[in-house]
Amino acid sequence: MTAQIIDGKKISMDIREELRPRVDLLTDKGAKPGLAVVLVGDDPASQVYVRNKERACEKLGILSVKHDLSQETSQEELLALVENLNQDPSIHGVLVQLPLPSHINEKEILYAISPEKDVDGFHPQNLGRLVIGDPLFLPCTPWGVQELLLRSGVQVEGKNVVIFGRSNIVGKPLTMMLIQKAKGANATVTVCHTRTRNPEFFTRSADILIAAAGSPGLVTSEMVKEGAVVIDVGINKVNDRLVGDVDFEGVSKVASLITPVPGGAGPMTIAMLMANTVKAAEYRIGL
Ligand SMILES: NC(=O)c1ccc[n+]([C@@H]2O[C@H](COP(=O)([O-])OP(=O)(O)OC[C@H]3O[C@@H](n4cnc5c(N)ncnc54)[C@H](OP(=O)(O)O)[C@@H]3O)[C@@H](O)[C@H]2O)c1
Repeated sequence: MTAQIIDGKKISMDIREELRPRVDLLTDKGAKPGLAVVLVGDDPASQVYVRNKERACEKLGILSVKHDLSQETSQEELLALVENLNQDPSIHGVLVQLPLPSHINEKEILYAISPEKDVDGFHPQNLGRLVIGDPLFLPCTPWGVQELLLRSGVQVEGKNVVIFGRSNIVGKPLTMMLIQKAKGANATVTVCHTRTRNPEFFTRSADILIAAAGSPGLVTSEMVKEGAVVIDVGINKVNDRLVGDVDFEGVSKVASLITPVPGGAGPMTIAMLMANTVKAAEYRIGL
């Protein structure tokens, strides 16, 4: 079997185009969506991510306001900025780019963002709403994975899903999304992590295998059931090349559908961030 490639770039562009009329309508109503992105320090990868988010906003006609703060910014200064953005009526979404410098208490900053402007979906109120099946904002990367599956015609209901990774931003929220009694969900989900013994035992019966571990070469063809769908969320730099967590070449011979890295799950995160920003603006004016 040679797997068909899921084109995340194309799917993400479709989603972004679908948002355009909603952005236009909001703008006509004087409620142009606005996203504030806060970057602390000069981490090169974060700078690239922030630039990509700004570009996506510009292309869609979303107001994008970048706050570029020095590495030495204090907790109090950052909290004050978040508070200002929470109050700013031109801003509908507030995103603080992670990771933050080690002297900053990340949790306190994320909790300070107004849940109604939390377009990353990391605030405990939004994560709690996700758990009980009444989400406001879904975290962008897990939502992107779910959309990739939906738009590739993958039936999730009743399937065995195995997820590698249990982080608060990918693995855990994705697990919560896929077990919901809802469209694009209703799966039986197993989560593997670094303490899982013999993960192959679980992965070999997975209809859908999702790797979000940040561990290159983690998923090999022997671990994958014939015909499985494989989604690779991992982004790792190996010898100056970007690779995922999945041995793409080997696993492509066994899987039925597979995402590449780059060009798979990655572009979906920005598309879903745009979707959350539009949703936040609609929410504000009661649309
Ligand atoms: N836009 C995007 O596409 C996007 C967005 C976010 C993240 N990512 C990528 O996705 C990956 C995961 O990100 P993250 O923020 O969730 O990372 P993280 O916070 O480091 O969490 C990694 C998770 O994977 C597990 N893990 C790591 N190595 C493993 C192994 N060899 N076997 C089994 N489990 C293993 C860890 O287990 P323990 O809990 O036991 O430590 C942990 O739960 C990274 O490569 C990241 O760059 C991509």
